[in-house]
Amino acid sequence: MKKEKNVTSGAIKRRPRLERIGNRVRLLVDGKPFVALGAEVQNSSASDLGHMAGVWPRLAAMHCNTVLVPVYWELFEPDEGRYDFSLVRGLLAGARANGLRLILLWFGTWKNGQSAYTPAWVKQDLRRFPRGQPEPGRNSRAVSAFCEACCAADARAFASLMHYLCVHDRAHTVIMVQVENEPGFLGAARDHGVPAEKAFAVPVPAGLVEKMADLGASLHPEVRGSWKNAGSRMAGTWTEVFGAMADEVFMAWHVAGYIERVACAGKTEYPLPMFVNAWLNYGSAGAASGGQQPGDYPSGGPVARMHDIWRIAAPSIDALASDIYSPGFKPICLDFVRNGNPLIIPEAHAHTAAANVFWAVAAHNALCFAPFGVDRPHPWSMFFHSDTPGMAESYKLLTGLLPILAPHLGTERIRGILQTVDKSETFALDGFGVTIEYETPLKDGIQPGYGLIAAVGQREYYIAGRGFTVRFDPPAGSPTQVDILSAEDGRFHGTKWVRARRLNGDDTNDKIIRLQFEELPVLRRVVLYTHT
Ligand code: DGJ
Repeated sequence: MKKEKNVTSGAIKRRPRLERIGNRVRLLVDGKPFVALGAEVQNSSASDLGHMAGVWPRLAAMHCNTVLVPVYWELFEPDEGRYDFSLVRGLLAGARANGLRLILLWFGTWKNGQSAYTPAWVKQDLRRFPRGQPEPGRNSRAVSAFCEACCAADARAFASLMHYLCVHDRAHTVIMVQVENEPGFLGAARDHGVPAEKAFAVPVPAGLVEKMADLGASLHPEVRGSWKNAGSRMAGTWTEVFGAMADEVFMAWHVAGYIERVACAGKTEYPLPMFVNAWLNYGSAGAASGGQQPGDYPSGGPVARMHDIWRIAAPSIDALASDIYSPGFKPICLDFVRNGNPLIIPEAHAHTAAANVFWAVAAHNALCFAPFGVDRPHPWSMFFHSDTPGMAESYKLLTGLLPILAPHLGTERIRGILQTVDKSETFALDGFGVTIEYETPLKDGIQPGYGLIAAVGQREYYIAGRGFTVRFDPPAGSPTQVDILSAEDGRFHGTKWVRARRLNGDDTNDKIIRLQFEELPVLRRVVLYTHT
């Protein structure tokens, strides 16, 4: 790390950073735990500060605390070696004026498996910056991951961005950085250009296989299976060692290695937490049922089954993030928290954000959740739907509750609720059995039940959400009975609970706490007592 002038150790401690306590990871901003309740703007929004002037207040009014905005290499370094900081400067000012933090998305060599955001001097010089080739001789729209010159140029530009932040963002407006966007190779399972073919002919690096062996049973089952089926070899060509998954593992190793160089150059200037986001392998083994092949999604990108390879090849990357647009939110989250990977969801479907943010934060201690494109004024298809029913209310509620939840996030004292069954489910919390009954069976067009329950004190619980009822029961066979001592609606003013309605009678009959018949999420404080 470079020695920085005029930076006190206190200032360094207040920098945004990740802290690992056992298997929990927290994001600290100004020294305090922070959950990014985010929104990612559309791809082109941050290229015009005038446009952004109208976006900031809208996002602040939606109770976002963080905005995810691209920094485009093509505009940042229009001529080689000449950096233009004006957009970054304006983004910092706009966010600060609206009380928002930023996560910058470095649209460098990769944006959705292609290189559309590389500067013109990169795009047009195919000799210096050769493209990846899905078949020998046919150039793709992406610079090859084996292009040393592009990696060096990308790393230089990224380092310059991070240096600028180090000097000009003493307020820590920027809390994390995404390095590249949905990287990997599209069009074939691996690059077939000349440098790629050369690399494919070289034996698998010993360090990779040794570190995989060290992981033992925690190595992702699909990679482990493919390696085992190929004879569990500790040395050999990519095909000999990895068999059926050779192409994807090969690409993951090299794409991750490229991005490691970029991230490392940036961290040397300013070590903010950094992550890389994945275009998911929808429908391939490990996600749901058979479907997409590497190359249909960017091959070698950080999909869950490539995480171990990525962690070995790119130790400067703090988290591998998932862009979740598909159904199956719960299993995808689970896939992405394997082996201690912190959950970061920089892109999600806006339409289901109100519900899914609760699950991400309460069930998986997410550091960031952000629906994509919520600044779109006119939704024009379901995929890009920017209608976000309840999202502002969910964010508002969580904003009040998070300071109280902070010590418990990532522990067994918080349970997420996200309806994936028609009727009911039970789980254990704080020594009780908790039964959740959903208001309506799952149906397209009807919001699912969602929320959370947090056991924060002695028999004291906060229940948030909508579309369900809650009943606490003693453990089976116990002579003890459990009942409601008090139940209240309310909200937090700072860390002080401000009561609204006191709930009793019809509202808590049969010891049931009701969050049904609510259009928008509500917050309840419940105190229980036990007797025989
Ligand atoms: C995923 C990409 O990462 C985003 O930048 C955006 O292109 C969305 N897809 C939707 O278009």
